Amino acid sequence: MKSVRDIDVTSKRVFVRVDYNVPVDEELNITDDNRILETLDLILYLVEQNARIIIASHLGRPKGKKDLKFSLSTVCKRLSQLLKKQIFFADDCIGDSVTKMVRQLTNGQILMLENLRFHSEEEKNDDTFAKKLADLCDVYVNDAFAVSHRDQASITGIPKFAKESGAGFLLEKEIQSYYNSIENPKRPMVAIIGGAKVSSKLEALENMLKFVDKLIIGGAMANTFLKSQGVDTKGSMIEEDLLDKAASIVQKAKEKGVDFLLPHDLVCADKLDKDAQVKKVLIDQIPDQWMALDIGPATALKYANAIKDAGTIVWNGPMGVFEMEKFMSGTQVIADAIAASSAFSIVGGGDTGLAAKKCNVADKVSYVSTGGGAFLHLMEGKKLPGVVALE
Ligand code: 3PG
Repeated sequence: MKSVRDIDVTSKRVFVRVDYNVPVDEELNITDDNRILETLDLILYLVEQNARIIIASHLGRPKGKKDLKFSLSTVCKRLSQLLKKQIFFADDCIGDSVTKMVRQLTNGQILMLENLRFHSEEEKNDDTFAKKLADLCDVYVNDAFAVSHRDQASITGIPKFAKESGAGFLLEKEIQSYYNSIENPKRPMVAIIGGAKVSSKLEALENMLKFVDKLIIGGAMANTFLKSQGVDTKGSMIEEDLLDKAASIVQKAKEKGVDFLLPHDLVCADKLDKDAQVKKVLIDQIPDQWMALDIGPATALKYANAIKDAGTIVWNGPMGVFEMEKFMSGTQVIADAIAASSAFSIVGGGDTGLAAKKCNVADKVSYVSTGGGAFLHLMEGKKLPGVVALE
């Protein structure tokens, strides 16, 4: 991958694809601006280099139609505050008015385009659309790690037409952090995989077995593994159709000598509710119709001990329903153990960054990825299409 550092950007029109798909509340206030913060170094660098900067992103899934609920104008204001700099805003991402605004940019100025996904051609990876975007610039920079698993016009399409393309600082940092953790890892290498479904992590679980010394399982997916080992999980969430697959993963781990850790006690409840009745029980003592919603305290302690001597840690997925106080303690114990360890620790995927933040460890781990699906894609052992397009 060519780095933006290796491209002369002075006086050039530089199209920067970022992922500003940030969470917003009902009043459209940004509730977590981490993805914006993580791109500031690159933008400031381009300003210093006297580039003419065009910033483009998607926000949400507006299904190819202009819907102001998904407008990037709020994000533009936030970026402008963070940079303490004026940013021009175009109310579309292609068309004559956009071309005119780009033409009027002078060195060091920034223009942000409206949501790329207001055009259905973005997600369809339409070549004509990609070429229109490429025509806006001299240099294309992908700094949108979190959406680089998507084969979409602004990710894989533009590099086909742009005169020069390269990777931004965040994309480089994400890729390096991930591969540092799995190529030549300091051992023991521990992967902690949680979350709701085995189905969404199946490929990641199988791929991780190639690298890790210990695989720690939590979250609702642990129920499917427990049931595959003959435990009566009562009313817990289960993926019946994956019981054989789960059993085969346990078997594979055994054959490879991977220490495969499953819960031996659980926090269970009579319903999934913050006011539910709660009991801490051994795995074979779940009351009828109750459900497991977190790993139990003995399991959390055992997992924390397994993490203590790790050389490398990859964490993807919470240990329980951490959004509710009653079912958060398993995730908290694991998060604290990761924060306390001297291992190189990388956290990513879906809710995991959020969980790290809630548990107050986000600044105590080595790296928190901005990616959800993209991070999981790497864990599955696949290359990101956005990275391949730059190679
Ligand atoms: C994300 O938030 O994971 C990325 O921005 C990708 O969004 P998408 O799943 O809507 O493609």
